[in-house]
Amino acid sequence: MTQSKCKVLITRRVYPEAVELFRDRAELDYNDSDDRLEGAELLRHAQGAIGIVTPTSQQFKSELLSALTDLRIIANIGVGFDNVDVPAASKLGILVSNTPDVLTETTADFAFALLLAVSRRIVEANRYLLEGRWTRGSIDFLAGHDVHGRTLGIFGLGRIGASVARRGRGFSMKILYHDLRRASNDLEAELGATFVSKEQLLRESDVVSLHVPLVEETRKFIAEPEFRLMKKTSVLINTSRGPVVDEQAIAKAVQEQWIAGAGLDVFEQEPRVNPALLKLQNVVLTPHIASSSEDTRRQMCLMAARNVLAVLEGKCPETLVNRSVWDSAPKSS
Ligand code: DGY
Repeated sequence: MTQSKCKVLITRRVYPEAVELFRDRAELDYNDSDDRLEGAELLRHAQGAIGIVTPTSQQFKSELLSALTDLRIIANIGVGFDNVDVPAASKLGILVSNTPDVLTETTADFAFALLLAVSRRIVEANRYLLEGRWTRGSIDFLAGHDVHGRTLGIFGLGRIGASVARRGRGFSMKILYHDLRRASNDLEAELGATFVSKEQLLRESDVVSLHVPLVEETRKFIAEPEFRLMKKTSVLINTSRGPVVDEQAIAKAVQEQWIAGAGLDVFEQEPRVNPALLKLQNVVLTPHIASSSEDTRRQMCLMAARNVLAVLEGKCPETLVNRSVWDSAPKSS
């Protein structure tokens, strides 16, 4: 068998340019549909594949990974990789890659769009007008909260968090951040960002924006005790992962006006959204589309495809999340 005939699975519909990259270079099993492959069906399609290109909504647990004895790489279309049991993959010698950088600015744009929409009640106002309820104004008519000059608290000052901070600076916001590790002096100086404790960030911020990965330590990172620390006039923005916030607690915090509102692009059990959130006026809910601009999603698909092609060609993929697997694998000379 020549290298170009290695089997590659693409688990969901992707931009055609990414499919095209595999032409004549792999035996492609392409699920050209928006439906997820589940259970036995996923196993059947993945069987014999050397590489898998997949959106992050497809789960790869250790049991499945163990059954895929030919698999060399899972190339996620997304910067997150909590959908893959990476320690299990690493033990089995399976590479895992993601798509950082290409989506940073697009995701930061979207987080800021949510921040503006919630603070200035744009979606609520749009609904009000469309429902034909605008018959007169009043002095505090749909009055929101200013964004300029307020304090933006960022959890996770990685690529996306830093890009959100830059946007905040453009709006003359004061920037606070909290992370596992303190950022470099240069980055802090560039962003004018001050490192503070989790509690101080929650107490002092007018907008709290989440940019942490989903790992055991960040599950329900924001729950009732955290909402109780936040200002009554503050808003929460989540474009990271749903389980980072306790969804029931957000609903309660907004309903009982512990905070002023929330902008959420991610949910605990997507595509299901907690019904308690659907009843609230001052939340803006979007279906996990922060990185979804035409250009960015195309670049993400291409990057994931290139990562698989690299493996087929015996080269190191651009953006591995478990690089040690590559480093320790025997190389053919
Ligand atoms: C990401 O990049 O992880 C996004 O959430 C995928 O859609």
